[in-house]
Amino acid sequence: MQNITTSLKNLFYLWRRSQVPVKQPIKISRIDNLVIFLVCILISIISSYKLLLISPLNTADFFSWLLTFTEILISSGILILVSKKENPTISSRQIFLIITLLLAVQVAKLSLASAISPLSIIIPPTLIISQGMGSITALAWVSIASLSWPDPAVAINNNLFFILLICSSVVSLLGGRIRSRAQLLQLSIFVPIGSFLSQWILIGKDKTSLINRQDFVLVNGDIFSDSLLLAIVMLCTILFIPIFESIFGLLTKARLLELADKEKPLIRRLSLEAPGTFEHTLLICGLAEEATRMIGGDIDLIKTGALYHDIGKLHAPNWFIENQDGTKNPHDELDDPFKSAEVLQAHVDEGLKFARKNRLPKLIANFIPEHQGTLKMGYFFQKAKEKNLNINENYFRYKGPIPQSKETAILMLADGCEAALRAMNINASDKEALKTISNIIYSRQKDGQLDDGNLSKGEIFLIKRAFLNVWKRIRHRRIQYPTSKNNTFS
Ligand SMILES: [Fe+2]
Ligand SMILES: [Fe+2]
Repeated sequence: MQNITTSLKNLFYLWRRSQVPVKQPIKISRIDNLVIFLVCILISIISSYKLLLISPLNTADFFSWLLTFTEILISSGILILVSKKENPTISSRQIFLIITLLLAVQVAKLSLASAISPLSIIIPPTLIISQGMGSITALAWVSIASLSWPDPAVAINNNLFFILLICSSVVSLLGGRIRSRAQLLQLSIFVPIGSFLSQWILIGKDKTSLINRQDFVLVNGDIFSDSLLLAIVMLCTILFIPIFESIFGLLTKARLLELADKEKPLIRRLSLEAPGTFEHTLLICGLAEEATRMIGGDIDLIKTGALYHDIGKLHAPNWFIENQDGTKNPHDELDDPFKSAEVLQAHVDEGLKFARKNRLPKLIANFIPEHQGTLKMGYFFQKAKEKNLNINENYFRYKGPIPQSKETAILMLADGCEAALRAMNINASDKEALKTISNIIYSRQKDGQLDDGNLSKGEIFLIKRAFLNVWKRIRHRRIQYPTSKNNTFS
């Protein structure tokens, strides 16, 4: 009997899964794939063609060229895979940026290697990639850019190669974590200073034993001008990063923090025209931030995403309960559950329109439909059922898609728990609060809403704990302090 029940449960689960949209893979058109492949071929040709110019060309030289060509082509492919792995939602434009920067660096090595230090050629693009695509992609890019030298005649000094690798790795690792333009400026000053000192210690000293004193002064001068050039190129790169952000849709930490500024016109409008939604948004930010911190997700992303998730309610603020004063509800006057469901869905559709108009990055815009997923509008569904029992529940479900990332999944859970936690009695115990949170999360899980969010059981446990901690904070704030005439310590 138990086996039959389990089988039925499994069948029901499979059926539920078939009712929600399947996870959308990254759509890269055939033409984009072809262009990316052609650029990779071009990089391989530029990185290896000098090996074919050796005369007389024998079979060993030809195989040496073929090996280098294949090596670069495979490396470029691995670079694209790494960037896709680190950024599952990477677009073809961003892949194109990564490989175009690699192509530009290989061309610069051919034309400028004898005049400009490799540090100035390789480090600035690393800054763009680490900021826009993350540290791992930047490290993968650096390894290809530093290892492949198209012209065997311009061999890189071992010490310089070591300095290049250290400096570009530092830029890759810090660039992916930096949260403000000011920190970027600091990086563009300290990295050239570090490269100058390390070159002076590792290369400058070696040369003094080989050359005379006058040359030593000259060599020092070269190191200084190289480092100065590196600083100038890095500063120029920082100036151009906002342009790269808008052309290639990059989402840097600095951009995320700029978008999270509550003085942004759209957020100001929300606070003035839909104050209830604004309060709800702030509380959700707190819940989602704490939960994301617990599981080690992207806090800046979820904070900004949460701020814009209900921006679509601006189209009709008083149709949402949090903005009503309790006297008049337009849904009661309308008395049509179908129309009411359309108004609710419109907060997602209009939100996406606001996102497009205000040029919000795709990763932020994703929070708008995914926080509602394909959830059922239970209240209006029940109302419709009262009138007609054979109603199709799909009319009363949001259009989705269900959350596709951990961050959007957390936001959906925070959105669900916010009202329930706010409404809880001030004297409720932790156990009761945890039970309420668990029930809401379980209902989302059972409904198949978390199927694509990649949250593990352990992470869901931590999210529940995080929500409970935030509720405890809220409860603490709501407890009134005793007032007395003798209370003079505040
Ligand atoms: Fe919403
Ligand atoms: Fe919401």
